Amino acid sequence: MNTSKDENQDGSGWVYSQRVKEHFFNPKNLLQGDPNEYKSDGVGYVGSPACGDMMKMWIKVDHITDTVVECKWRTFGCASAIASTSILSEMVTENGGMSIDKAFKIKPQDIVERLAGLPDRKIHCSVLGDKALRAAINDYFRKSKQEGRIVKDKAKVICTCLNVTNHEIEDAVLEGKLTYEEVQKKTKCGTGCGSCKSRIEELIEQYKLQYYGE
Ligand code: FES
Repeated sequence: MNTSKDENQDGSGWVYSQRVKEHFFNPKNLLQGDPNEYKSDGVGYVGSPACGDMMKMWIKVDHITDTVVECKWRTFGCASAIASTSILSEMVTENGGMSIDKAFKIKPQDIVERLAGLPDRKIHCSVLGDKALRAAINDYFRKSKQEGRIVKDKAKVICTCLNVTNHEIEDAVLEGKLTYEEVQKKTKCGTGCGSCKSRIEELIEQYKLQYYGE
């Protein structure tokens, strides 16, 4: 797992990597001033009901090279969300800017690697930035009349008895619920007829691989 090397052995507290601290205490590309006066090409807004975090991101795009040239953000998130988004905003704008297609595919794992690790329980905070970035890129596609490039991620109901979607299962895994029993306790999925169990287990494995690399 992507655990910070200096996390306490007994798990009693979280100690962050030096890079996380640097970006937390000196976050890059925070939007200063009145957001209404910032002329962006796309805006993305996401919130995590699970932890009360919210993230808003504004991007500017070079229409000729199709690259992100500015990435500004604001959050009410925790230290991990701040550090993750700060480093993400650097990643997409460094070296003249990342291509839109590449920026859309950035994964939380890429961000965590650049941060030299995050405690597993904080991985879900790191997804706020990349979710907001994808929302901002989709907004840019909409505003620039490139609807064909918009990537839609509609929730699918996995457990029809309890109306639990893949997004809810994904959020549970991101919060560190890594077994069927833990996800079930959190979402109530599978507590009816039970026919969805194998699909839920598959999804848990898929999200574990995606977010924790295991
Ligand atoms: S479909 Fe999930 S419990 Fe029935």
